[in-house]
Amino acid sequence: QVKHNATNKPSLKVLNQKYMAATKLDTMNQPPPTSCHSKVELRISCKDLLDKDILSKSDPICAVFWCRDGRWVEQGRTEMIMNNLNPQFAKTILLDYYFEEVQKLKISVFDIDDASQNLSQADFLGEVETTLGHIVSHGSITENLKLVDKRPAGKGTITVTAEEQSGSKEVATVSFSANKLDKKDWFGKSDPYLELHRVGPDGRMLMIHRTEYVKNTLDPKWKPFKISVQALCGGDYDAQIIIHCYDWNSNGSCDLIGTFNATFRNFLEASTTKATWDCMNQEKKKKKGNKYKNSGVICLDSCKVETEYSFLDFILGGCQINFTVAIDFTGSNGDPRNPQSLHFMNPSQPNQYLQALRSVGAVCQDYDSDKLFPGLGFGAKVPPSYQVSHEFPLNFNFQNPFCAGIQGLEQAYQMCLPQVQLYGPTNFTPVINHVMRFADQESKQSTASNYYILLILTDGVISDFVQTKDAIVAASHLPMSIIIVGVGGADFSEMNALDGDEVRLCDRSGRQCARDIVQFVPFREFQNANPEQLAKHVLAEVPTQAISYFKTRGIPPLQKPTPPPQF
Ligand SMILES: *[C@@H]1O[C@H](CO)[C@@H](O)[C@H](O)[C@H]1NC(C)=O
Ligand SMILES: *[C@@H]1O[C@H](CO)[C@@H](O)[C@H](O)[C@H]1NC(C)=O
Ligand SMILES: *[C@@H]1O[C@H](CO)[C@@H](O)[C@H](O)[C@H]1NC(C)=O
Ligand SMILES: *[C@@H]1O[C@H](CO)[C@@H](O)[C@H](O)[C@H]1NC(C)=O
Repeated sequence: QVKHNATNKPSLKVLNQKYMAATKLDTMNQPPPTSCHSKVELRISCKDLLDKDILSKSDPICAVFWCRDGRWVEQGRTEMIMNNLNPQFAKTILLDYYFEEVQKLKISVFDIDDASQNLSQADFLGEVETTLGHIVSHGSITENLKLVDKRPAGKGTITVTAEEQSGSKEVATVSFSANKLDKKDWFGKSDPYLELHRVGPDGRMLMIHRTEYVKNTLDPKWKPFKISVQALCGGDYDAQIIIHCYDWNSNGSCDLIGTFNATFRNFLEASTTKATWDCMNQEKKKKKGNKYKNSGVICLDSCKVETEYSFLDFILGGCQINFTVAIDFTGSNGDPRNPQSLHFMNPSQPNQYLQALRSVGAVCQDYDSDKLFPGLGFGAKVPPSYQVSHEFPLNFNFQNPFCAGIQGLEQAYQMCLPQVQLYGPTNFTPVINHVMRFADQESKQSTASNYYILLILTDGVISDFVQTKDAIVAASHLPMSIIIVGVGGADFSEMNALDGDEVRLCDRSGRQCARDIVQFVPFREFQNANPEQLAKHVLAEVPTQAISYFKTRGIPPLQKPTPPPQF
């Protein structure tokens, strides 16, 4: 048995064997799932706070609460500042950020007198209720503080500034090859792969990457892989990265070919001159003595470092989300006056169209500063001529289809319903083209100032499937995403093909979608869930979709977030 670790601790090899028995090596070329969530730091300051102390000024402290299951739960608080009605708190509050959720926040200011820091015994100086989405989409907000009964708290204001928690955004793309590795297999050569380790903050070895294995060769070239610089070296360019080269065996065991140390600084130097390392097997060296030179040579063929922006970078940089809704008014929905109709306005419970609109709209509205949303309808005969239209404004104002807020969209939908004749067929292309025209203008600017989301609410089987596929492939080159929510009980199997999660969508000429931009869900799967679940599900992919657009176009965030205001 080969040992390359002189201590009593289980050797890396033993650990690896255990690890490998538990994981499928054949799936190791899959990229890890990316999580879009990031951390936001809130920086808080106040002005003109109420003065509660008789002999001196208030001693303010600020606490941030998060709404969880209808209850306010404290997430953190700032330091207390003595004798100050215009405090600028130094301690920031760290929060997890999820685009696809309405993250309700309450920020409260107290005057604290005793050392116990018990807020329920402190004097209340006012609060604001907002959402994290509202704060990040503005970068910084200033609002009047309110007392419990919503009265203004004197002239008191609060300013909250959001910053993404600083962390390295550098991502390295690294590519290795090797020459003349030792032959380890009886039949055939070796099946070599690399494993990168470093010493973690707690002093223990951390595996940071494992390449795929290359079958039956002593001169492998591994596929380039991406890794964040933070993960690779923990921010220390001179930290030792220990690289093991192993021979893979189908029974899950592995044979060490050799090991060498490098640093990220070596990697960077390799971007100009090719770097090579002797791959050393200490066991073999001991046996062979001076005759042993190495067990092969490993080369770093390239190391490219790029900055990868997060969705939050774009939002904090000033990117707005333009939200458009398109509603299906085809005959298959059933006569709206009939309680069986999907468009029936039940006074006690909103229909599925309204529920889906509210759920997704509640998230999106935070990211649109003017809160004017175009509302479109399709598949009905509309006044005055009663021609079938597949792209008409819900408010019948062809010059200005914008509705004020989600409420405005709801009103336009409700007003429109009795005035149109539900008809058919179910064509998506006109409304997709509608949003594409704006997204196309946007894409010509080459700035990250707007990203478009089209929400299509439909009851069924799409009639212009082929044209819709063409439109989606074209739209995949533009700053837009399409969300389709299927209401009612129809068979939605074709919609799943548009979603492209399993098979990449192609148009008639065989051109592939440049990126995944469609998310489809049947409403019935969320009918009994809480309304936020639907939004969470359909919007979860939007951040990745937006980043992938900006990245392929090489578009950075519009601007760095504004620094906190100076007093
Ligand atoms: C804070 O004060 C309230 C009311 O006086 C009391 O019920 C609570 O137990 C105190 N909490 C702590 C942590 O001391
Ligand atoms: C490689 O790095 C490890 C961890 O820092 C260290 O213990 C070891 O001595 C280094 N080996 C060589 C050959 O420099
Ligand atoms: C796995 O296979 C390799 C080579 O085929 C052999 O050397 C090794 O002994 C085997 N290990 C186990 C645990 O069967
Ligand atoms: C997109 O949103 C921006 C900011 O709210 C607004 O100025 C612009 O008119 C919108 N464009 C469209 C086509 O909705």
